[in-house]
Amino acid sequence: MKVGFAGAGKVGCSLGMLFSETQHNLSGFYSRTSASAEDAAVFTKSKHFQNLETLIEESDTVFITVPDDAISEVWDSIKCMHIAGKLICHCSGSLSSKIFKDIEKTGAYGFSIHPLLAVSDRYRSYQELPKALFTIEGDADRISAIETLLEGSGIKHAVISADVKTRYHGAAVMCSNLVIALIRAAEDELRLCGFSEEQLREAITPLLLGNVNKVLNVGTGAALTGPIERNDFGTVEKHLKTFQGIDKEVYRVLSKKTLDVARQKHPNMDYGKLELLLNNQEDQ
Ligand SMILES: NC(=O)c1ccc[n+]([C@@H]2O[C@H](COP(=O)([O-])OP(=O)(O)OC[C@H]3O[C@@H](n4cnc5c(N)ncnc54)[C@H](OP(=O)(O)O)[C@@H]3O)[C@@H](O)[C@H]2O)c1
Repeated sequence: MKVGFAGAGKVGCSLGMLFSETQHNLSGFYSRTSASAEDAAVFTKSKHFQNLETLIEESDTVFITVPDDAISEVWDSIKCMHIAGKLICHCSGSLSSKIFKDIEKTGAYGFSIHPLLAVSDRYRSYQELPKALFTIEGDADRISAIETLLEGSGIKHAVISADVKTRYHGAAVMCSNLVIALIRAAEDELRLCGFSEEQLREAITPLLLGNVNKVLNVGTGAALTGPIERNDFGTVEKHLKTFQGIDKEVYRVLSKKTLDVARQKHPNMDYGKLELLLNNQEDQ
C-alpha cells in the first residue's frame, strides 16, 4: 500500500518519515508551496508532486495534512478525481471523517486519524510518534486496513465513533493545554508571594512531576491529597478569600471537581458544608 501526503507541514513530514523508515511505503508529498513538498521529499527520500492528481494516482492511501480550515477545500478538489477504492484520511482532532462530504459516491473510504501528541517539529517529531496513542474514526468496512498501516509502524491506536469526536478532542485539550493554564495560575499567585523565576521552577517542579507520576501510577482517586480530601473547611475558605479574579474561579471550579473525586474515595465522609462553601459565590 503506497501512502501519500497532501500538506507537507509538521504532521505530514513526521508521519511520512515514520512510514518511510518503518514500512518503505511512502509515495511522497504535494503541498501548497512546491518548496515545502520538495523539502519533505528530500527528508523522507520520497517524491514531490507538482499537483494533487499525480499524488492521488501514485497513492492508495492519501493523508490530507493541511490546517483544519483547508481540509474541505482540498477534499473538494480530490473528490472529482478517480479515487475509487482509495483510503482518504485527515489528522484533525476536532473534525470527523464526515468532513469528506459525499465520499460514498466516489467509492473511496474516509477516516480521521489523530495522534494524541503535540507535533512541533517537521524533522524531529517523527521519533516521538510511536509513543503517542492515535485515534481512528471512519468507514467500518476498511478500518482494519488503517489499523494494519498504523501497526506496521508500531503505532498504538483506539477506534472511536464520529459522534464523540468533539468530546474526545475537548478532553485532550483538558489534559494538555488547560494544564498549562492551571500551572500559569499557580505561577501568578507564587509571583504575588515574591517568588523569583528560579524559585518558581524549584517550587513547581517536584510538586508537578510527583503528582503526574502518582496519578499515572495509581489513578486520580488514590493520588489525591490536600485540603479538599481532608474536608479542611477553614483552609479552603481562606484560599477563596485570598484569591481574586480568574484564579479564584479556577480554584473554585477545580475544587468542585476535586470534591467529586474525594467523595468517591471516602463515601462515608460528610462533605456537605464544603460543598456549600464552594457553591456560594456571594460572600467570598
Ligand atoms: N501539530 C500538531 O501538534 C498536531 C497534532 C495533531 C493533529 N494535528 C492536525 O494535523 C493537521 C496538520 O497540522 P500541522 O500542524 O502539520 O500544520 P502545519 O505544520 O501548518 O502544516 C500544514 C501544511 O499544509 C500546507 N497547506 C496549507 N493549505 C494547503 C492547501 N490548500 N493545499 C495543500 N497544502 C496546504 C501548508 O503550506 P505550505 O505548502 O505553504 O508549507 C503546510 O505545509 C491538522 O489537521 C491538525 O489539526 C496537528
